[in-house]
Amino acid sequence: MVLTFVHIPGDGIGPEVSDAVLRVLAAAGAPLSHICRQAGQAALDAGAKDTLPEATLSAIREHHVALKGPCTTPIAGGFGSVNVALRKRLDLYAAVRPVRSLDGVKTRFDAVDLVVVRENTEGLYSGIENRITEEVVVSMKVATRNACQRIARWAFRYASQRHRRKVSLFHKANIMKLTDGMMLDEVRQVHDREYPDIELEPVIIDAGCMRLVKDPSVFDIVLCENLYGDIVSDLSAGLVGGLGVTPGANIGDEDAVFEAVHGSAPDIAGKDLANPLALLMSATMMLNHLAETRESAACRAAAARIKRAYDAALAAGQKTRDLGGTLGTREFTEAVIARLEE
Ligand code: NAI
Repeated sequence: MVLTFVHIPGDGIGPEVSDAVLRVLAAAGAPLSHICRQAGQAALDAGAKDTLPEATLSAIREHHVALKGPCTTPIAGGFGSVNVALRKRLDLYAAVRPVRSLDGVKTRFDAVDLVVVRENTEGLYSGIENRITEEVVVSMKVATRNACQRIARWAFRYASQRHRRKVSLFHKANIMKLTDGMMLDEVRQVHDREYPDIELEPVIIDAGCMRLVKDPSVFDIVLCENLYGDIVSDLSAGLVGGLGVTPGANIGDEDAVFEAVHGSAPDIAGKDLANPLALLMSATMMLNHLAETRESAACRAAAARIKRAYDAALAAGQKTRDLGGTLGTREFTEAVIARLEE
């Protein structure tokens, strides 16, 4: 059975890396078709009135899965984040970002295997900011019991399904006693009531970051509220080779949008320098998600085939420049395709 996903190329390096990924998916015989929809500056450039057109949202609601390139958000002014809006509009409340050491990518640590799970809908990302006077502005951090509880449940269920041993909650409940305090409280309750066999380790986030960069192998699943998760994801990416190798997914009860952790990288856009691997890994996560939710063994097989191919390419030293290699986006894509087995 051929399954359809929505392809959103995005801005900056988005079209280059997503073109590379579509080529690998096709060469790997993934049983997928896609429809293309726009978001971000690319949507405005294509004549849409909004950075998140209704046609894009309704296509995702219809097909339930999307593979998305990064979308630019202007700094201090301009339109709001399309990425944040997409997560909120589709209620994609769990961001999951696996961070793993790769053979052939030399970093300070060689056995990193952790997953950052980020609450994706509230916190300071709620974007509720007010000007009190010309001299004073405030930003409101939102925590709701429902969102804290459902992300806690999602993280423990994920840990249990994947035989993970520990969930570390990064928080700052000593200072943000109400908001982070509610998160801590709900995570403890879900743990004690529903998942007592998985270890729960509450960690104050500043000390947690220090421990992450000293010895990431002590962590398994790192659960964070929205802003902490954003920062800890990039920090963790740095432990295994950077943003070029860190995939991600935004998952809700109905829909899922797969995208790399990295942004639109305007500094290298259009130069054949971008590493398509993070989005390719996100696409293998999408295949595995479809394998689980639509019982598609062919999707599972295609994901495994693609993973073996990029692992083999990296192990043979075929890498893009961000990883210390010499290949451009297109050459690396060809190298992966050449290593796909029959
Ligand atoms: P960025 O992730 O785009 O780039 C940070 C650095 O990493 C740059 O030096 C870039 O060249 C490098 N880099 C990123 N991805 C790479 C790849 N695949 N291969 C090789 N090098 C790579 O972060 P930045 O510069 O803070 O943000 C740029 C824009 O992206 C902003 O407008 C931001 O809002 C947006 N953004 C969008 C995200 C999304 O769509 N989910 C996530 C993060 C940022």
